[in-house]
Amino acid sequence: MANSSIPNFYEKSRKERIKAVASFCGLSQQDVKILESQGGISFADADKMIENAIGTISFPLGIATSFQINGKDYLVPMAIEEPSVIAAASKAAKIARKHGGFTMKADESYSIGQIQVVDVDVKSAISKIMKSSKQILKLANSKSQTLSKMGKGAKQVFCKKIKTDSGPMLIVELLIDVGNAMGANVTNTMCEGVAPLIEKLTGGRVILRILSNYSTKRLVRGTAIFDKAQVEGQKIVDNIILAYQFAASDPYRAVTHNKGILNGIIAVANATGQDTRAIEAGAHAYASRTGRYTSLTEWKKDKKGNLVGKIELPMAVGIVGGIVNVHPMIKICTKILGVKSAKELACVIAAVGLAQNFSAIRALASEGIQKGHMKLHARNIAAGAGVKTDKIDEVTRRMIKEGNISVHRAKEILKEL
Ligand code: MEV
Repeated sequence: MANSSIPNFYEKSRKERIKAVASFCGLSQQDVKILESQGGISFADADKMIENAIGTISFPLGIATSFQINGKDYLVPMAIEEPSVIAAASKAAKIARKHGGFTMKADESYSIGQIQVVDVDVKSAISKIMKSSKQILKLANSKSQTLSKMGKGAKQVFCKKIKTDSGPMLIVELLIDVGNAMGANVTNTMCEGVAPLIEKLTGGRVILRILSNYSTKRLVRGTAIFDKAQVEGQKIVDNIILAYQFAASDPYRAVTHNKGILNGIIAVANATGQDTRAIEAGAHAYASRTGRYTSLTEWKKDKKGNLVGKIELPMAVGIVGGIVNVHPMIKICTKILGVKSAKELACVIAAVGLAQNFSAIRALASEGIQKGHMKLHARNIAAGAGVKTDKIDEVTRRMIKEGNISVHRAKEILKEL
């Protein structure tokens, strides 16, 4: 089985990195050509996707190494503009390997569709809906042959009464197994499809028919152990737990803590063509599920003093449909990742979120994050000044020591060496 711990990946040239990735996951020559080109979508495709198109925009795409999730190795494509995120994910993944990597589990891909019914006697409407739930499900499932053929599709009907400023309302919810798709389209189609029947059954008036991005029936959860020796000792482990407790108790810190988790999650979601707004909206709502916004992760130590991290959040993602089938680079990223189902993708994405959180709070609870940022910044400046790999560490070190990080100084130091 391929090993995703590729030594010194970050020191390789672009060509060497692509070669290592290609041999890890069997990219074709055509795939490599697309990777080496700027690889975006054509303007013609962009023009079909959105309105008033005038161009396309690109983001840096990198690879996080060393991930092992449920016993399988992954190279994880991440599209993000922020430095340090990919290095941080890779470092955490490397540490987690010692205790078997990440153990993750995703729910079935159940999406929730909502139908808002007004002008009804809610109690009797609920009884009519529940009596006809089979008929409603049959009608919903007639809207997707694809899901029906796979034994997926609408599975259950729920009703709830909500209080509003205009009085009580009935909300009918469809629970739909959307398989390997993110499922927004099929959910909305089914909701719209059953609305007339719901009006007929209840005598009420349907207004909204739309999926909920609060995907609480589509959670992903998992854990990883970070060896205390590799976390640089018991003191740092304890500091990380204290840092977590800060986030668990204070929403101002929790938002930043979760932003770090989302740095990882959204970078993989970008690379694999997901609806990142849906993921973020669901994540923040889930972080508030107790009535107070809190951390999406939990950190404790085990009996041996090793650090144990846990994550749980909704994850509505897909590997078919939408941009996934259209964007050449996203197709390649999905191939690099090698995920075979939406559930597997959800597991990878959440594992990267946990890894990201580990690295962020580890750095914050020890040397702080600026040191790493400055190093990367100085390295980039040195590389931009034409400093080659053999001298880059020394030039970087000296610029940081002198507090003078500039192209001019990098060139001067190079002459001095
Ligand atoms: C920066 O993008 C993310 C962090 O602020 C996350 C955190 O504070 O946990 C470093």
